[in-house]
This record gives sequence, structure tokens and C-alpha cells, in this order.
Amino acid sequence: MSNRLNTTPNDLRAFWMPFTANRQFKKEPRLFVGAKDMHYTTHDGRQVLDATAGLWCVNAGHCRPKITEAIREQAGELDYAPAFQLGHPKAFELANRLVDIAPEGLNHVLYTNSGSESVDTALKVALAYHRVKGNGSRFRLIGRERGYHGVNFGGISVGGIVANRKMFGTLLTGVDHMPHTHQPGKNAFTRGEPEHGGDLASELERIVTLHDASTIAAVIVEPVAGSTGVLIPPKGYLQKLRDICTRHGILLIFDEVITGFGRMGTPFAAQYYGVTPDIMTTAKGLTNGVIPMGAVLVSSEIHDAFMSGPEHMIEFFHGYTYSGNPIAAAAGLATLETYKEEGLFDRARDMAPYWEDGLHSLKDLPNVIDIRNIGMIGAIELDPIAGEPTKRAFSAFLKAYENGLLIRTTGDIIAMSPPLIAEKHHIDEIFGKLREILKSNI
Ligand SMILES: Cc1ncc(COP(=O)(O)O)c(C=O)c1O
Repeated sequence: MSNRLNTTPNDLRAFWMPFTANRQFKKEPRLFVGAKDMHYTTHDGRQVLDATAGLWCVNAGHCRPKITEAIREQAGELDYAPAFQLGHPKAFELANRLVDIAPEGLNHVLYTNSGSESVDTALKVALAYHRVKGNGSRFRLIGRERGYHGVNFGGISVGGIVANRKMFGTLLTGVDHMPHTHQPGKNAFTRGEPEHGGDLASELERIVTLHDASTIAAVIVEPVAGSTGVLIPPKGYLQKLRDICTRHGILLIFDEVITGFGRMGTPFAAQYYGVTPDIMTTAKGLTNGVIPMGAVLVSSEIHDAFMSGPEHMIEFFHGYTYSGNPIAAAAGLATLETYKEEGLFDRARDMAPYWEDGLHSLKDLPNVIDIRNIGMIGAIELDPIAGEPTKRAFSAFLKAYENGLLIRTTGDIIAMSPPLIAEKHHIDEIFGKLREILKSNI
């Protein structure tokens, strides 16, 4: 019996698309066929202004020559090198360049291929670290409600988005969650860090009291939660988490998959907030989104704890066929050079106030119940249509696309994070178009 779907080359049925309303999409496809700098080109030949850097990843803008050329060259020179027991120079070079811009003390790099893999790698490092230190009873992992840490089993276990968890059985055991920090009643329309909610970090102390510190390996949070709709940490919150973790010998993991590489106007959010984690996960902007790659940075204390036993023995039983892949490493190096040469992190810092003003100018529009921002990140929360959650924001997304603007929605929240090359006129265009869309009573 044939298993063929009887498809033609351009048939849309075979590809089961990720995090997509597949049936809606396939009725009204939205395809990109080209991209340059701040714009996509659609299959029907229109230009779409990218207000989301793809999926929070194209921080230097699209099809940047240095990155494209590095990939082209590397593919012709060394396409693949086995990742286990062998290496190639660019993987080492990139690790050093990452350490150069990382918060002080994060001196070692493990490579992955995505944010989800970075998260699961970080959780495994944390568990194994305690074990090699003789503290194998520290098996618990603590996440946070509304956290997003990718889609693998570790990530959804510590994550706190119910739709991403409820279909998938028992997940990891020994996981607990802190409350999220979103308090729109108290903090609505805050510019930057909210005043209220810093004390929610004390909930970690309560969890420690419940389980005992001797059972807890690590706490993982996004410094700024992105995929759940942009939740900005209240003043003092992250420092408090840091203090509690330090006091109880618990590792603090920052998931910087979207906050890394200049999004906050600093290399990483850790530097923006002046709070250094023990482990940091990255991906996305590491290669400007062009080639799948992630990296997990760990402290020397953690790395060195594994460097014992006979020298011929593997120290950590973990890694991927594509860890530090040559083409990805070349893309990563060219990306970091582009960020540096064009001063894009500083540029993001300098542009952030203009971004903030533009965003908050939409406050008067119908159904807008909150606006929040930090660095080059912004969110507009809409009042859900009664009985039809997510529909209002999804309509805004579709209208924006028709009107030549790419935004992202999650629930009834519009989230934006433009490439860091955005000029003032791009920002004006983003908020001008959004004003018209939100005014039209979606
Ligand atoms: C904070 C965070 N962690 C992990 C991930 C997962 O990354 P990926 O989709 O590359 O697996 C994301 C993706 O948006 C993210 O925002």
C-alpha cells in the first residue's frame, strides 16, 4: 500500500508546522522568499518590516554580508568535523570570543544546536555538578510559572506555560515552580523595571524551606521572560534570587536565549542587571539566527569540578553530533564580529528610549490594557475577546502581516523585538502601522 499523500512539490500538507495554526495557515499561506536588513519579501512580492528579528534571533538584521560569506567559505573548506574526541579551530575561537563578552567568571562553553538543547544541557550540568561534588541528593530543579525554556522534556518541566506541558505526561520529577512576577493590577504601563513584585523572589525561600536546600540543584529563570508575553523582572527581584541561591548552595541558571547578544543594550541581561548566574544558556542571536547553534556558559568552579579522575576518561557524558559544527562556528564568529564592528549592543542601548516612547504612545488605543518594555523589547497586552482568548491578538498579527509589518503574538499579547540595526524611521513605521491596526477595533 502506498503511503504517499499524493502531493505535488508545492503542496502544503506534508509539512506539519511548528507552533502554528496549521489549518488556518494552509488556507491563507504566509511565505517568505527573501530578506534583507530590516525587511522580508513575501511570496506575493510585498515587503514586510521585521519588528521581531525573525523569532528574537536576527539581531544584526537579515542577510548580512559578513555572516553569509563566512558560511559560504566555511562550507567549501571544512564542512564537518566529528564533535567527539576531535575538534576544529573555529569552535575554540568562538568559545573564547563568547567568554570575552560574557559576565565575569563564566569561562567555559558547551555547544548545542538550539535554545531547547541549551536548557536541557544546563539542567544536566547542574545535576551532574552536584553529584561530582558529592552532593547527589541535590536533584530538584526549580523553574517559574509562565517560564519558557524551549520544548524538550527538561525545558517543559521547569517551564510554566500550561499549553506546552499539559499534553506530555509526567515530565521530569522533582520539579517545583516559583510564582511568576506579572502584576498588571499594580504595574500596568510601567516603563522599564516594575516597582512592585521584587519581594516575590522570597517565594524561593519558601520552596527551599519546603524541600530543604540539600535537595535542590538549580533554579532557572529567564531574566526577562519573552515567549510568555514579555514579563520584566521587578526591581531587585533577580538580585534577591541570586542571594537566596548563593546562601543555599543552589546554582542559578539564567536562560538568555532571547536576552543575549545585545537585546538589552548589553551583551547579556546579566550585565544589564548586574547579576551573574552560575550557568547561562544562549542560542538564537549567537549566529544571528542564520544557522542553528546554542551555547551554555558555565563558571570555572563548575567546569573544574568535572576535571578529575584518569585523563583518558570522558569527564561529562553529554554532547551532540553538531556541537560546535564548523559552519555554525564560522557563522557565530562572523556574527560576533558584525555586532562589534557596528557597535550594535551600544546602538540598542541608545535607541531603547526612542523605542520606549513610541511603544507607550499607543496607550490610548482601544483594548490596550498594558504596555511594557525594556531594552529593545516591547509588549502590548490586549483585552481578550470574551470567550475567545488569543483571537484579538491573532487578528492583529494577520492584519499587520497584510499591512507589511511582522509582529509576534502570544496569548493576547503582542511582543516585539526588532533587529538592533533599526533606524528611528523603522520604529516610527512599526508604531504608526500598529496604531492604525489597533484603532480599527480588531
Ligand atoms: C528563553 C528561551 N529559552 C529557550 C528557547 C528555545 O529555543 P529554541 O526554539 O531554539 O529551542 C526560547 C525560544 O524562544 C526562549 O525564548
